[in-house]
Amino acid sequence: MKDIDRLLDPNTTGFHRAWFPVALARDVTAEQPLGIDLLGTRVVAYRDPSGSAVVQTAWCPHLGADLSRGEIIEGQIRCPYHHWRFDQSGACAHIPTGDKIPPGARVFTFPSAEAWGLVWAFNGDAPLFHVPTIPGVTEQDLTIEVRKRGTRPLPPWVGTSNGIDFQHLRALHGLSASTPKTVSVSDYAIEYRIETDRYLQHGRITGTNVFAQHLRREGLDTYMLFAGAPIGRLSSRGFCVVGVQKVADKAADRHLAAARLDGVCGFVERLLAEDDPVLNTMRFRVGALVRSDRHLARYFKYVATFPSGEVPA
Ligand code: FES
Ligand SMILES: [Fe+2]
Repeated sequence: MKDIDRLLDPNTTGFHRAWFPVALARDVTAEQPLGIDLLGTRVVAYRDPSGSAVVQTAWCPHLGADLSRGEIIEGQIRCPYHHWRFDQSGACAHIPTGDKIPPGARVFTFPSAEAWGLVWAFNGDAPLFHVPTIPGVTEQDLTIEVRKRGTRPLPPWVGTSNGIDFQHLRALHGLSASTPKTVSVSDYAIEYRIETDRYLQHGRITGTNVFAQHLRREGLDTYMLFAGAPIGRLSSRGFCVVGVQKVADKAADRHLAAARLDGVCGFVERLLAEDDPVLNTMRFRVGALVRSDRHLARYFKYVATFPSGEVPA
């Protein structure tokens, strides 16, 4: 697993070419720029006048001030230092002194998207694949709850491995999960499905930082998505989304959906509370694997060969 060791080396540069969650959508506004440490750099997120989320490099191309400390003026981000302004494409749109705008006066604008109550940015000039989804459902079908999950001293792909680590579901979480016979691996996703008369688990890893699943237990369909983003080389910030099917808009049914959602949130909180003490203290390495780890081993190979590259600047 030489390639995995390379990914764990703090001196390696670049990150996977994937969609990373930047912030809760409700925290990204048209009034106040939001600064976030992401991908070993800093980005600024805000909304343009049409309401679309914009994610840009936060370092001003003039002298390097943090644009997230500035203001949004007429839909453009204004640097706090000399008040240069940048538009949604990242081009410098205005220099108050009237100086000619130099050609290098641009900030990088990440491809961005809004889904599952989160704003996402793709690490690259153009997305290689679609924003992550939850198996078997569209966002419109669900009542969701989205939360911040805190930080971990690990790259996001280590946390994501939980989604395909069937051994830990039984040992650490005490779940009666079985192991799928096969998992299907494509360029940018890994998917599996375990189905019996009374149980369904349809899981999908998208990129190397998102695990989402549709679970049916005791006749109840629940949906969840766990997404992580690198802060630096070996640290990450997480978010989780849980959802249940929307019900007809009658007060009693809304109560039912809210109660079900509460139940799923409690279940997810329990899983995270069991994972955290282990994931936050381990010295991760791919060591002696056994047959039960075969899908996990396949995942590590997928991670090691997943496209990666420098963060555009
Ligand atoms: S450092 Fe941003 S305008 Fe000068
Ligand atoms: Fe877990």
